[in-house]
Amino acid sequence: MDFVQELGRAQAKIEGYLAGCFAGEPRHAALYEAMRYSLLAGGKRIRPVLVLEFCRALGAEEDKALPLAAAIEMIHTYSLIHDDLPSMDNDDLRRGRPTNHKVYGECMAILAGDALQSAAFSAVLSADFSPETRAEAALVLARAAGEDGMVAGQVLDMEGEQKSLSLDEIAHMNALKTGCLLEAACLMGVIAGGGSEERKQAAKAYAAAIGLAFQVRDDMLDAISTSEEMGKTVGKDQAQNKSTFVSLLGLEACEKIVAEQTELAKSALRQTGMETEFFCALADYLAGRSY
Ligand code: IPE
Ligand code: IPE
Ligand code: MG
Ligand code: MG
Ligand code: MG
Repeated sequence: MDFVQELGRAQAKIEGYLAGCFAGEPRHAALYEAMRYSLLAGGKRIRPVLVLEFCRALGAEEDKALPLAAAIEMIHTYSLIHDDLPSMDNDDLRRGRPTNHKVYGECMAILAGDALQSAAFSAVLSADFSPETRAEAALVLARAAGEDGMVAGQVLDMEGEQKSLSLDEIAHMNALKTGCLLEAACLMGVIAGGGSEERKQAAKAYAAAIGLAFQVRDDMLDAISTSEEMGKTVGKDQAQNKSTFVSLLGLEACEKIVAEQTELAKSALRQTGMETEFFCALADYLAGRSY
């Protein structure tokens, strides 16, 4: 398997599917435009790629999982639009473009995020699966996104600006704000592929490890990369007094954590009988990413 080629193939499939979303006759044209502005601004598409690849690894038809893949990207995009708001991280640049609120104003950015969240659940609940499978996927997504998942992590992140968090608290915050959606992506792929409970557990273990590595790498890149390369403003975590692994441990220790978690991720899928080559290469790619 050529990893780069396979990643590109899956990404292109997702781009094509997303391009067809909110493309019909809108009730409100400006709302659709704001939603599409952020949804179609590029991005690595890691979460939807995980949905498709886990589905494929189970020998199931990946096209059926496209609405689920689109759904997780809609939730992720909504989380980024809101994360960038002046009342949160106050960012001007995202995915190489001005942030949603810079273009459409704060009200529309909030509402575009809201609408993307609802649309995500519409997509899952109208996908071509049995009612049980649809409900299971929707529940996984709802739990990962909500008050005990990503949103809770974002609350901890905000609180971390006012006080310094311990290492355990930062790890917990990362698991929620970033890990939960990555876990939901892997799980939705297994659900779409009709995978067993054992495979769901293995997918969760893989996701937990790449999730921690992913956010630590994001925090490292905020400290060492450039805005041009990242497509978002760097240096903000320090400026906003965020508690991160980088602020607490420094870059070298972070590099070690990323490497350890990447190895852990790779071992998580062994003995599941699933083809692990793509997932191992993806873990390495994410650990070494420069944006
Ligand atoms: C950014 O996520 C937010 C974090 C969880 C660190 P990504 O790095 O996946 O952003 P895109 O989707 O590629 O823009
Ligand atoms: C955001 O983390 C995670 C989300 C749930 C959106 P960050 O605030 O570090 O993400 P970036 O660096 O702005 O992409
Ligand atoms: Mg943030
Ligand atoms: Mg941010
Ligand atoms: Mg960041």
